[in-house]
Parts: sequence; C-alpha cells; structure tokens
Amino acid sequence: MSRLHGKRALVTGAARGIGLAFARAYRREGAEVMIADIDITRAEAAAAEIGAQAVHMDVSDQDSIEAAVAETARRLGGIDILVNNAALFTAAPLVEITRADYDRVFGINVAGTLFTMQAVARHMIAAGQGGRIINMASQAGRRGEPLVAVYCATKAAVISLTQSAGLNLISHGINVNAIAPGVVDGEHWDGVDAFFAKYEGKAPGQKKKEVAACVPYGRMGRAEDLTGMAVFLASDEAEYVVAQCYNVDGGQWMS
Ligand SMILES: NC(=O)c1ccc[n+]([C@@H]2O[C@H](COP(=O)([O-])OP(=O)(O)OC[C@H]3O[C@@H](n4cnc5c(N)ncnc54)[C@H](O)[C@@H]3O)[C@@H](O)[C@H]2O)c1
Repeated sequence: MSRLHGKRALVTGAARGIGLAFARAYRREGAEVMIADIDITRAEAAAAEIGAQAVHMDVSDQDSIEAAVAETARRLGGIDILVNNAALFTAAPLVEITRADYDRVFGINVAGTLFTMQAVARHMIAAGQGGRIINMASQAGRRGEPLVAVYCATKAAVISLTQSAGLNLISHGINVNAIAPGVVDGEHWDGVDAFFAKYEGKAPGQKKKEVAACVPYGRMGRAEDLTGMAVFLASDEAEYVVAQCYNVDGGQWMS
C-alpha cells in the first residue's frame, strides 16, 4: 500500500488519539510524517513507535506555529499534506461559560486551524506543487448542544473556514476539506464523559454508554474508523474534492 508514497505530512495533535491513528495510516501508505503536539514527550514516543518525526507545537501560539511549520518543511524537505487535528473540548451551561475558557478553546480550535493552514499554505504555494489540507471538524459543528456552546461553535467555524480556504486555495492546487467524526472513544471522550458526569450527575462511563447506544452502526467510533477518509482526502484520488466536510460517524448525524 503506497497511496501516499513520496508525500510529506504534518499532523497536529498527533501524540495520541485520532491524530496518531492518521499518522500511523499515512506511514503505512508511504508518507513521511511529522507529529506536532504540545505534549512533546508523548509526541516523541509516538513518532519512535511508528517511524515518524516529532516537533513541539502549540497551535494557539503564532510563533510556535511558524517555528514548527518551518522546522517541518526543513526536516521533511517540504509539506504536501497538513492535518489540522489539535483541539480541546469544553462544556458548561451557558450562564457559566467564562471569557477565559472561550478564548482558550477558540484560540486552539479556530485560530490554531486558521493560522496553521496559512503558514503551511505559504510553503505549499512557494513550492508550487499544490497540496492537501484536512481540518478536523465534528458533528458538533453541525448543530448546537445544550452544554456545549463553545466547542460546537468552534467546530462550526472549522467547517466555515474549510469552505472559504477551500475556495481560495484551490487556485494554487491546494485542496482543503474536513472530516466530521461523531463520537470516537479514547482519552478525548474520557474528558467529555467527565464533563457530563459533572453537569448531568451521571456516573463515570454512563454518558459513553448512552451515546454508543444512539449510534446506528451500534458502537462508538474508533480512531481507525476515520483513517480511510483521511488517506483518501490526502491522496491523488481526491484531486477534484474541494471545500467539503465529510461525516464519518456510523450514521449518527443522519439519525
Ligand atoms: N474523539 C471524538 O469523539 C471526536 C469527535 C469529533 C471530533 N473530534 C475531533 O478530532 C480531533 C482529534 O480528537 P481526539 O479524540 O484524538 O482528541 P485528543 O484529545 O485525544 O487529542 C488531541 C491532541 O491535541 C493535542 N493538543 C492539545 N492542545 C494543543 C495545542 N495547543 N497545540 C498542539 N497540540 C495540542 C493534545 O496534546 C492531544 O495529543 C479534534 O479536533 C477533535 O475535536 C473528536
């Protein structure tokens, strides 16, 4: 399998979870991969395990974005694929949302996505060989949820940024698209579960069981369930796919 042979991919937030599954799948398909994460210890361990490289990156910090993108382009010899995957979840009743939490989560999920796209697009345009950018949205970006106003709004913004960036950058041969997962088990969802335990008085693990029961496929997603779409969107087969957001959610959005 070498659908990405010779390609160079930067995946943010790839020290664990969905980003790591994408990094692993891209390696399997022949790409060189840079794992960029705020948790550099874990990023380095993950990179060693899958034969990738690692770089420290805080997507909420402009200097860190510029430095990590420049370092990736230097060490890999260029960047053909970017996955904007780093994000934070947060939840609170509307009347308890703080300005600090709003700024923190928008700074990572929205500004991080926009300015990492921008920094990588500049490299891609200068290289003149096009590229692929994949942004991680969510079903949460397609509708509101009573306790999840801020996170939902950030993912709606990611879908919107994907549309505008996709329309703007295709003139340079850069395809920008997004993936909207449903509920994917892992450390992220352990955190989500803890928020619902706090605000809905549920026992730990109860919310997970409830959401899993609502997925038409019959279970929560696994990070590996998303890799087929991530490889496709990064590959030559996605040449004519522009500014789209694809649900990969076991049928959850449709239900
Ligand atoms: N897990 C789900 O159910 C689910 C559902 C829909 C969408 N998503 C989206 O998919 C993506 C990956 O989710 P996941 O479940 O793997 O999450 P995760 O929390 O397991 O992993 C997120 C990674 O991002 C890194 N990170 C956090 N802040 C960062 C920063 N400022 N700079 C750089 N790296 C940072 C973390 O260290 C971690 O490695 C996210 O964009 C998330 O919103 C997840």
